[in-house]
Amino acid sequence: MNTATKPDAKAVNQGVAPVTYGTGDRPPRGDYASARSDFTCNQCWERYTAEDHDLYRRLYERQWAQLPGLACDEFIEAVRHLGDPRRIPRFDELSEPLRKTTGWQIAAVPGLIPEEAFFALLAQRKFPVTGWLRRPEEFDYVVEPDVFHDLFGHVPLLFNPMFADYMQAYGAGGLKASRLQACEYLARLYWYTVEFGLIDTPAGLRAYGAGILSSAAELRYSVTSPEPQRLGFDLTRIMRTRYKIDSFQASYFVIETFQQLIAATAPDFAPYYEQVANASELAADERLATDRVF
Ligand SMILES: [Fe+2]
Repeated sequence: MNTATKPDAKAVNQGVAPVTYGTGDRPPRGDYASARSDFTCNQCWERYTAEDHDLYRRLYERQWAQLPGLACDEFIEAVRHLGDPRRIPRFDELSEPLRKTTGWQIAAVPGLIPEEAFFALLAQRKFPVTGWLRRPEEFDYVVEPDVFHDLFGHVPLLFNPMFADYMQAYGAGGLKASRLQACEYLARLYWYTVEFGLIDTPAGLRAYGAGILSSAAELRYSVTSPEPQRLGFDLTRIMRTRYKIDSFQASYFVIETFQQLIAATAPDFAPYYEQVANASELAADERLATDRVF
């Protein structure tokens, strides 16, 4: 799940305004007319066709095959929770074991949702998952997050108690950031951890970010290519760093443990926001003398 950068959608009782990336010149993919005021909707599982399920299976199998040696063990271990790879999971069925394990549940949404709605759901331990699946011609790449990205990329680690706590803390922090005009900083933290994060393990670097784990090509690139830089996790450094939404990342940030994420996000962020606001922004590929390089 990603948030839109321009949350200009206004909640109403019947349906909500569509949300798109950036300037909004791309037509929205989801059915926002049937969404509730909190942007959740019904999954309408019956509407998936046999072709949809087959496309999901092919996406799943391709990703599953390349996880060993590239994805972190916690993720590989948790993917089985998604159930039968031959069909798109029913969100309500998947929510049951998730609720029992970490108290999270899946909430269907039409697609991208405004930041505040996104934060509010996370703070309630509800993870928004897009209902629609990409088209067959988008097998290798889709711009907006679809049901495969949201489910395969994000949901497995919600079964991990530590990561589950981080996601809720992130949502609560996001609600506060909205009031402090600091959403951009928090969006960067989300991007470089939840979406594109790497973790250092005894066996080498591994991916835990959903954007990488659901990507056919970026998974291997992020972990093994000599091209991008891989830098040690640094909270305020990340908050200063711009990111790319239409190409592989120029920089990946590496955590040492999931505990490190929790610990870094435990303090009140308000002083950090001030510090970041007073510092210069950094380009996605910038290197600082203080960076720890992997
Ligand atoms: Fe995502």
